[in-house]
Amino acid sequence: MNDSDQQEKTTETGQPSRWKKLWKQPRARYWFGIPLGGAVMFVVGILFWGGFNTAMEVTNTLTFCTGCHEMAPVYEEYQETVHYQNASGVRAICSDCHVPKPWGAKVLRKIKATFNEVPHTILGTIDTREKFEAHRAEMAESVWAEMRSNNSRECRNCHALETMNLEIQDKRASRRHTLEWLEKKGETCIDCHQGIAHKLPEGY
Ligand code: HEC
Ligand code: HEC
Ligand code: HEC
Ligand code: HEC
Repeated sequence: MNDSDQQEKTTETGQPSRWKKLWKQPRARYWFGIPLGGAVMFVVGILFWGGFNTAMEVTNTLTFCTGCHEMAPVYEEYQETVHYQNASGVRAICSDCHVPKPWGAKVLRKIKATFNEVPHTILGTIDTREKFEAHRAEMAESVWAEMRSNNSRECRNCHALETMNLEIQDKRASRRHTLEWLEKKGETCIDCHQGIAHKLPEGY
């Protein structure tokens, strides 16, 4: 050890610094190591978590979905509906209707997409209009089944019976938009509102 090293680790009075003394005690080293290790893991965790969440967000954008669904007619059809453009300027994008908001369900949907939509992209299952139309009924049925099973959860992120002004809805609508009606008939939004964003499959 040379002089300047020595200089750094002693205080002005020539005593070894308090930190150095503390560090020399095995117990202190042990207790100091745990929070330090914890802090490092905490930071690493945040970085991973941030990356994970960024990935979840990026894969929820309109451009991400239309990256694959541009060629098929779903995008075009959606652009002609109120969910794309309306007087109030509030837009619902693909993921608003097709990707759950609750964390667990959202991760499951992403996993399903990875193991279903990605392989089918490689297989070219819907890569032409003809193939898409031939497959549309099956896909629509699958979307309806999912929406029925969760009581049209994604629709309710924006639409709620409680916030509807039934007085300004037409009678046909306001009679049906009540808990009594929906519970009595066992109906959910998607039972009456199919084909709101895309054309219905042929024959439906
Ligand atoms: C990597 C390309 C790719 C991307 C990106 C993609 N999709 Fe798909 N998607 C497909 C293919 C291929 C199918 C047909 C899968 C099949 O045959 O079941 C499909 C099917 C679907 C279906 C029908 C699912 C069903 O239950 O049968 C929906 C809804 C859908 N996509 C929505 C979306 C949304 C919303 C996004 C953005 C969050 C998205 N897709 C992003 C390729 C993609
Ligand atoms: C991101 C928010 C959002 C989501 C999610 C959403 N909507 Fe909408 N919806 C809107 C907005 C905004 C309008 C247009 C309101 C206006 O300006 O009149 C609208 C309009 C409607 C209309 C009336 C217009 C029409 O097409 O005749 C119906 C019916 C409707 N939505 C049903 C649904 C259903 C069913 C779902 C679920 C599959 C759903 N919405 C999901 C925001 C949303
Ligand atoms: C029993 C059938 C039925 C059910 C179930 C139903 N609706 Fe409707 N809804 C209608 C009818 C009929 C209309 C008026 C005609 C139309 O727009 O299709 C309507 C209209 C609407 C409109 C447009 C209202 C306006 O005046 O602009 C919205 C938004 C809507 N429904 C959302 C929903 C949501 C969200 C649910 C689930 C909570 C739901 N509906 C459940 C039958 C139903
Ligand atoms: C307002 C809600 C809503 C939005 C926004 C929406 N969808 Fe859908 N989507 C549905 C519903 C409901 C169905 C079930 C079939 C039907 O009723 O038309 C469906 C069905 C589908 C299907 C199955 C094929 C078919 O035509 O039935 C695909 C693929 C799909 N959507 C992709 C997309 C993509 C990609 C976007 C964005 C460009 C998008 N959706 C935007 C509600 C929506």
